[in-house]
Amino acid sequence: MTNFVPTREDHFSFGLWTVGFGGADPFGGPTRAPLDPVEAVHRLSDLGAWGITFHDDDLIPFGSTDSARADILGRFTTALDTTGMTVPMVTTNLFSHPVFKDGGLTSNDRDVRRFALRKVLRNVELAAELGAKTFVAWGGREGSETDAAKDLRAAFDRYKEGIDTICAFIRERGYDMRLALEPKPNEPRGDILLPTVGHVLAFIEQLDHPDMVGVNPEVGHEQMAGLNYVHGIAQALWAGKLFHLDLNGQHGAKYDQDLRFGAGDVKSAFFTVDLLETNGYTGPKHFDFKPLRTDTGEDIWTAAANCMRSYLILKERSAAFRADPRVIEAMEAARVHELGKSTLDSGETAERLLRAEDNFDPETAASRGMRFEPLDQLAIDHLMGVAKG
Ligand code: GCO
Ligand code: MN
Ligand code: MN
Repeated sequence: MTNFVPTREDHFSFGLWTVGFGGADPFGGPTRAPLDPVEAVHRLSDLGAWGITFHDDDLIPFGSTDSARADILGRFTTALDTTGMTVPMVTTNLFSHPVFKDGGLTSNDRDVRRFALRKVLRNVELAAELGAKTFVAWGGREGSETDAAKDLRAAFDRYKEGIDTICAFIRERGYDMRLALEPKPNEPRGDILLPTVGHVLAFIEQLDHPDMVGVNPEVGHEQMAGLNYVHGIAQALWAGKLFHLDLNGQHGAKYDQDLRFGAGDVKSAFFTVDLLETNGYTGPKHFDFKPLRTDTGEDIWTAAANCMRSYLILKERSAAFRADPRVIEAMEAARVHELGKSTLDSGETAERLLRAEDNFDPETAASRGMRFEPLDQLAIDHLMGVAKG
């Protein structure tokens, strides 16, 4: 693996909207020509990716006729068949068209909500046809700029109604598909509903079919909220809810940068890969990044390749970190593995603990250092590639 070239077994996937990002931002138009989805399938396949994902409108422009839709899907599925690329996930665009200016599933306008839900259901049908096992719902426009204009309790009722309806549809049709809700704190709305992993996990518990719904955490979105992405995905994994994830890069609390994976907080990226590789995550490693607006041509594909390269470098660094005898010793000194031992003895009850005689001396325990500093520097040494010898 030392050349850091990906294979299908790595299960790397990319959104069509990532390599297809034309460079438009709030202050300027696109800097690049539109990308043919068929070219995206071929180029990503050549780079060693395993899957391609899309919003309905990325592939089939909004308002396409049925025959145009059939032609596009025909070309796309031929490209999939030719390359062996998969479609592990599909998602719906409920944010670009002006009709969704106040959201899709939670718009104040009931007719818009019905239209949005039909758009999602139609896209679930397409996702099932293409064999996608995960359906992502990112509610980018579900939110508000003024709390005067949104009945928030009703908004949560409608959000639940929307997700419950999608789940019921998947069940009725017998599709082998789960939903993953993607949190984001803001942008494009001033404040978005379900802003963090924690909010999504709590929301899921209120749904009719909580078993069918998980979370799709994005690196940059948690970091925009000043949160620790590694902690977020760890809790999602712990709850059995890490159905999918969006890997990218972000420099702290500012607009959503969607940088290539490995850019931004590289130490957090190291611990992200370390967590995924050592805690049994088996889902897709999906990149949701935007190639720099300043780049063109081959550099777009190099950026995609670099997402995977960065992941594989960090995977190797993480394995080296964990295998290093100095790290094993430092972890021992820091009592990292002691946290894995249950706090109570086997069969011990709270009553027995309350009455337990032990010789524990808080002053002695308090005076003992936890030895975390040496371990952290070893992580840095491995991350920087200077830990050998
Ligand atoms: C963002 C989001 C989106 C969603 C995608 C899925 O950058 O704000 O990540 O890219 O992931 O739209 O629906
Ligand atoms: Mn995303
Ligand atoms: Mn993003």
